[in-house]
Amino acid sequence: MESVEKIREQFPITKNKVFLNHAAQSPLPKPVADAVHRYVDDFSDFGATSIEWNDGGKPLFAKLINAKPCEIAFVENTSVGLNIAANMLSYPRGSKIVTTDLEYPSVVYPWLRKSLGVKVHYVRNVDGKILLEHMEKAVDDKTVAVAVSHVEYVNGFRHDLGALSEIAHEHGAFLIVDAIQSAGAMRIDVKKDDVDFLTSGCYKWLLGPPGAGYLYVKENLIEGFEPPFVGWASVKPEIFETIDFWDIWSLRLSETASRFEVGSPSFISLVGATEALTMLLDFGIENVERRILSLTSHLVEELKALGLTLQTPEEQRYRSGIVNFKIAEPQEVAEKLNNKGIVVSARAHGVRVSPHFYNTEGEIDRLIEDIKVTGGQRE
Ligand SMILES: Cc1ncc(COP(=O)(O)O)c(C=O)c1O
Repeated sequence: MESVEKIREQFPITKNKVFLNHAAQSPLPKPVADAVHRYVDDFSDFGATSIEWNDGGKPLFAKLINAKPCEIAFVENTSVGLNIAANMLSYPRGSKIVTTDLEYPSVVYPWLRKSLGVKVHYVRNVDGKILLEHMEKAVDDKTVAVAVSHVEYVNGFRHDLGALSEIAHEHGAFLIVDAIQSAGAMRIDVKKDDVDFLTSGCYKWLLGPPGAGYLYVKENLIEGFEPPFVGWASVKPEIFETIDFWDIWSLRLSETASRFEVGSPSFISLVGATEALTMLLDFGIENVERRILSLTSHLVEELKALGLTLQTPEEQRYRSGIVNFKIAEPQEVAEKLNNKGIVVSARAHGVRVSPHFYNTEGEIDRLIEDIKVTGGQRE
C-alpha cells in the first residue's frame, strides 16, 4: 500500500484546494487525467480505430463489488441504471415499491411514472436513520422491489444491504441499490449481501469522469429479463464479432449483462474510469474505507466539540464518507468556505462534508478552524 503522501502527489487538487466534496463530483487524479489525455491525442492523431479498446473497466468494477464481469453492463450514469431496473420489472395491480424519504430523486422518480401503475411507499427516517423494523413492516407480498441508496446523499446514512435483501427476498421482492455514494468509498459485497441490482456512475467516489457508469445484475436474473431498450450492444458477442454482417432478422440477446447495453458507451469516460478503478483497487478498498471512516469520525468529534448539531447518525455501523451538520445560513457558510479554497456543499439546512482517502486530518482541522471563524453559529 502506498503512503498517503505518495498518493496525494497523484491528486493535483491538493496543491490548490482543501477538497472535501466527493459526494458531489470528484477532481480527477493525475493518472486518470493522463489516461484521458492520451486517449484524446491518439484519437486525434490516428483515429478511433487505431486505439486498442479494452474491457472498459468491467472486470475491475466487478472485483470492487465482488461480482463477475459477466454481471456488469455499461450505463451512462446511475439514473439510467435505476431506470433500466425499474422498467424491466412487472407491476401487478396493487403492487408497490418500498423506498425511503432520504432518497435522491433518481431513486424514486422511475417508479412515479403513472404508466407503471405502481405505488411508492416511503419509509420515514427517524433522526436521519432508516430503521430496519420500519422497513420490515413496510415490505409485504405486494412489494415488487426495495429501492435505496446504499449511502444516502444528504446525511451519509449507510444501509445494511444484507438485512435489506433478507427482508425483500422473504416477500419475493428484489433489492435495487443506488451505489453512487458508496462505490469507491465503502466496501460492497453483492454476493454476501445478496443484492439483485446495483448501479453507480463513476464521477463521485470512483474518481472517474462523468459519462461512465456500471450496472450489476445478479447472474441468475439476467436471462429472465428483457431489456427496456435494445440495440447492437445488446446482442450475443458472436454477432458483435461479425460486425460486417449483422443478423437483423432476429434479436438474440446476450446471455451476459451486456444485454442491458444499447449502443456505444462513452469510451473516453471509461478510459478514465478504468484508470481510477485501478488506483482504488491498488490502494485496497478496505484501506480506502478505513481512512475515510477515520477522517469522518475525527470530523464528527470536532463538530460535536464546537456544539454543532449533526444530521448524520453517530453510530459507526451507519457511517460513511458523508457528514452533515446544521448551521445557520448553510449556503453562505459553504460559499465563504469555498472562497477560501475549502470545498464543501450546502445540503438540507446544513453543510455536507465528504472527504476521500487522500484527504488528511490536517485538512479536516483546517475546515474546523475556518468554521470557527466563518460561521460556527448553531441553527
Ligand atoms: C444517491 C444519488 N443517486 C444518484 C445521483 C445522480 O447520479 P447520476 O448523475 O450518475 O445519475 C446522485 C447525485 O448526487 C446521488 O447522490
